[in-house]
Amino acid sequence: MIPARLIYKTPVLKILDQRLLPHKTAYMIVRNAAQTAKAIKDMVLRGAPLIGCAAAWGFPLELKACRRPSSWKETLALINSTARVLKAARPTALALFYAADRMRGKAACFIADQKDFSPKKYAVLIRSLEREAYKITEEDRLACARMGELGAGLLKKKSIVLTHCNAGALATMGIGTAVGVITEAHSRNKIKHAYSSETRPYLQGARLTIWELQRSKVPSELITDNMAGHLMKTAGINAVIVGADRIAANGDTANKIGTYSLAVLAAYHKIPFYVIAPTPTIDITLKTGDEIRIEERSSEEVTFINGRLVAPKGVRARHPGFDVTPAGLITAIVTEKGVIRPVNKKTVANNLKHFAFL
Ligand code: MRU
Repeated sequence: MIPARLIYKTPVLKILDQRLLPHKTAYMIVRNAAQTAKAIKDMVLRGAPLIGCAAAWGFPLELKACRRPSSWKETLALINSTARVLKAARPTALALFYAADRMRGKAACFIADQKDFSPKKYAVLIRSLEREAYKITEEDRLACARMGELGAGLLKKKSIVLTHCNAGALATMGIGTAVGVITEAHSRNKIKHAYSSETRPYLQGARLTIWELQRSKVPSELITDNMAGHLMKTAGINAVIVGADRIAANGDTANKIGTYSLAVLAAYHKIPFYVIAPTPTIDITLKTGDEIRIEERSSEEVTFINGRLVAPKGVRARHPGFDVTPAGLITAIVTEKGVIRPVNKKTVANNLKHFAFL
C-alpha cells in the first residue's frame, strides 16, 4: 500500500512529502492557502489530480486560519484571494484550476443565498467547503478505478509497457492514472514487464513510479530516459502509457517533459501510445496544445542531482516542466467516461458529453 498522500484533519492538512520518497516517509503540515500553494510549488506533492485535491482543501484551511470576516462581502473577497493564491502555484495542470474554480463557485453560491452574516452561518460555509473538497478527492479516487478498468481492457496479454514520470497513486487520491492501468492489468495477468523512465530532471520515475510498481509486485525495471528508443526497438515494448496535465479541445496533450519524445519514438516503432487522464484534465477553452502554458522551473533542478552540482559551476540550464504531444501521435485517451479513439476535436467533445458514474 502506498502511504496516504493527503490527510485533512481540521484545521490542518498533512501532506506526504514526496521529495523524500522512496527512502523516507514524512508529512508536512500546512495550515492555510499560502502554505498549501507553497507545498504545491515546491513539489512536496505533485501530479495533476493530487495538486487539485490539495488546492480544494486549501479553502477550508484558509477560512479556519484567517480572522473571521464580518460580512459576506468580505468572505467572498477572502474566497477570491484564496483562489488566486492557489492558482498561482503551478500553471500547467488544469486540475488545480478546476478545483479552485469549483470551490470558489460553491462558496459564491452559498453566499448568494444568505441574508445576514452570522458566525454560525460562517461555520456552515466552512463545513460545506470541507464536504466539497472531500467530494473532489472521492471523485478522483473513483475516476482512477474506472480508468484502470478501461485502460487495462486495451492491453493485450503478456504486455510489455513503458511509462514516464509518475502518474501513479502518488499523483492522485486513487490507484493512479497510467500506473493504475498497469497495476489493474497486472492483476488480470496481462503484464509481462513494465519499464519506468527515470524522468530527468526531477526523477519522478526513478524515485516514485518504480517504487509503486515494486510495491505492487509488477515485474519492472527502471531505465534512463535516453534508453527508451533502444528498448522500443529491441525489448518488445507494445504499449506506452502516460498521464496528462492538460488536454486541449483537439486532444493535444501536455504531460511531463519527455513525453513528446516518447510519442514520436512510439509512432516510429508502431507502438500504441495511450494517455490516461480524468475529464478535469480536458480544457475545452484551448483549441490546440499550442495554447497550453508550459511551466518553466528552476535550472538548479537540472544542474543539481540530490543536492549535488553535476554540471560546471555557473552553467545555465533550461527546464521546461512539460511538453505537448500532438493528438495525431496518441492512439487513445482514456477518461473515466470512456475511451477516446481516434483522438480529435469531435471525439474529445463526445467523451465529455457521456454520462459518468459520478
Ligand atoms: O511535475 P509533476 O511531477 O507534477 O508532473 C506530473 C506529470 O506529468 C504526470 O504525468 C501528470 O501530472 C499526470 S498524474 C496522474
